[in-house]
Amino acid sequence: MQIEDKEFELYIPSAEIQKTISSVAERIKNDYQDKDVIFVGVLNGAFMFVSDLLKQIDFKCEVSFIKVASYEGTSSTGKVHELIGLVNDIKDKHVIILEDIVDTGLTLDKIYSMIDHDKPSSLEVASLLYKPNAFNGKHPPKYVGFEIPNDFIVGYGLDYMEYGRNTVDIYKLK
Ligand code: IMP
Repeated sequence: MQIEDKEFELYIPSAEIQKTISSVAERIKNDYQDKDVIFVGVLNGAFMFVSDLLKQIDFKCEVSFIKVASYEGTSSTGKVHELIGLVNDIKDKHVIILEDIVDTGLTLDKIYSMIDHDKPSSLEVASLLYKPNAFNGKHPPKYVGFEIPNDFIVGYGLDYMEYGRNTVDIYKLK
């Protein structure tokens, strides 16, 4: 698959993604049954993961989204600016942040502290993809679909230069 100047090859086919999402959903169902849960998807990348995961969550819950923009400063510390904030009241609720991918974890650290500031009962992270070798953050995801090496990937919500989000499979840079 060609996106702009880069070529990508098939990496994780749709059936495998769906199978892994089912097992993540099972773990969440076991841990959160009968709790007051709100899922918070991080836009744009997590939209497909949120949609497919939530189809398999059969207990009463809220679903919401936040959108952040990250800036790379002169240092390696990412600065994150909130573009769409949470309107839901999360005090005393169990919050699960839904991410497409956790790479260095710096974006997630900022999102985690923004949400934690509003005093939820508990706060955990589920990420479809996780690059443990790149991770340098404070809050590793509790629920992970796939641990992957430091490859650049696109598809199923993830982009290269804002393109490539609309595929059912995941591709990696050739
Ligand atoms: P962080 O390094 O964990 O802060 O990741 C920041 C953001 O970079 C993620 O939320 C993704 O939007 C993006 N990102 C990281 N790795 C990839 C990748 O392999 N493909 C596409 N986007 C990525």
